[in-house]
Amino acid sequence: MIEARGLARTFTGKHGAVEAVRGVDLSVASGEIVGFLGPNGAGKSTTLRMLTTLLAPTAGTASVAGRDLRADPAGVRRRIGYVAQGGGTDPSVPLGEELDLQARLYGVPDRAGRVAELCARLDLAGLEARPAGSLSGGQRRRLDIALGLVHRPPLLFLDEPTTGLDPQSRGNLWDHIRSMRDRDGTTVFLTTHYLDEADALCDRLLIIDQGRIVAEGTPEQLKRRIAGDVVTLELADIPTPAHTAIAANASGAAGAAKAAGRAPAADAVGVAGTAGVAGSVDAAGTASAADVAGVVGAADAASAAAPANAAAAARVARVAERARAALSGHPAVREAAVSGRIVRLTVENGERELMGLVRALDAAGVELASLSLARPTLDDVFLTVTGRSLREAA
Ligand SMILES: Nc1ncnc2c1ncn2[C@@H]1O[C@H](COP(=O)(O)OP(=O)(O)OP(=O)(O)O)[C@@H](O)[C@H]1O
Ligand SMILES: [Mg+2]
Repeated sequence: MIEARGLARTFTGKHGAVEAVRGVDLSVASGEIVGFLGPNGAGKSTTLRMLTTLLAPTAGTASVAGRDLRADPAGVRRRIGYVAQGGGTDPSVPLGEELDLQARLYGVPDRAGRVAELCARLDLAGLEARPAGSLSGGQRRRLDIALGLVHRPPLLFLDEPTTGLDPQSRGNLWDHIRSMRDRDGTTVFLTTHYLDEADALCDRLLIIDQGRIVAEGTPEQLKRRIAGDVVTLELADIPTPAHTAIAANASGAAGAAKAAGRAPAADAVGVAGTAGVAGSVDAAGTASAADVAGVVGAADAASAAAPANAAAAARVARVAERARAALSGHPAVREAAVSGRIVRLTVENGERELMGLVRALDAAGVELASLSLARPTLDDVFLTVTGRSLREAA
């Protein structure tokens, strides 16, 4: 349904050139729901706008819905539906009129019948007289999708279909997208930076970063092939004379939040918002010095504790390095990354290897405070292929 080779787009402006898309190859088969995943600015919308003929590529070729993108853009446009990021409805026009106008533009026979059918299919029945501006976010997104489907295209492009919707509306929209594929065989190519959406809705994923496709496969394949299991080790606290109990606790909390991959740095600082803990937040590697400055300024005790904390941080770093060195030679360990007292390992067959890893650490004289094993998530996949977390990037 889509075959693209070397698709590229460079924007040239006053401030120089931006290589938004740098040679993308992609194939999408008929009836697939394919997710195009990547952080802000990765090149998702630019790729979509090229594939939908809205933007001319600076290089590359593509066949879309059986028509050549460059030779027959009008042919492509007749066979595809496109729902832009943010939509494009006029807020003052009633929903029914908007759909009818779209049907007229495409020369759809039996316009009234098609509009009624779409309203029924997308849970919009009864709202025909309502101006688009008065609809809820979920209703407006379903209207956007209905507009893209009016002419029964075999291929539908959706740019961030569920951004800004509450979880229930997102789930509801996923059902609609699945039913389009299941009932009509519609091929769907959608962009998202929601990992749960990519996981639950898409048959196959393409991950784009900085204008290039960096990974591709089913969600399961990607998790198995790329990420491996994730073993998170927390190194035991190394007691130091001036290191207060509060600091140790705060550092543990910040480290744990970081390990769970949920809390951004600002949250970690919030957790550690007590006098004298700035150094330990630094040691956990979750907050920059600038971030912590406000906390330090407010706390007189912090300046006294700082040198001791710096020494503690250095000790933690030495032990962490010893742990990393002991483990990175282990045959099951694909990668070992250190952040403060947290060591994060990517391991094949984590369950089976766990005991061996603990023994290796023991032999190296490294003590652990805690240990956890997690199945890989798409965020781990993203971290592995791009070196960044999608959550942090998005
Ligand atoms: N018209 C334009 N002129 C100049 N630069 C542009 C233009 N459109 C996009 N870019 C740049 O190209 C890059 C890719 O943008 P694009 O909109 O494709 O990203 P995206 O993956 O859709 O991101 P988001 O998740 O934020 O929607 C960005 O650096 C963006 O600033
Ligand atoms: Mg975009």
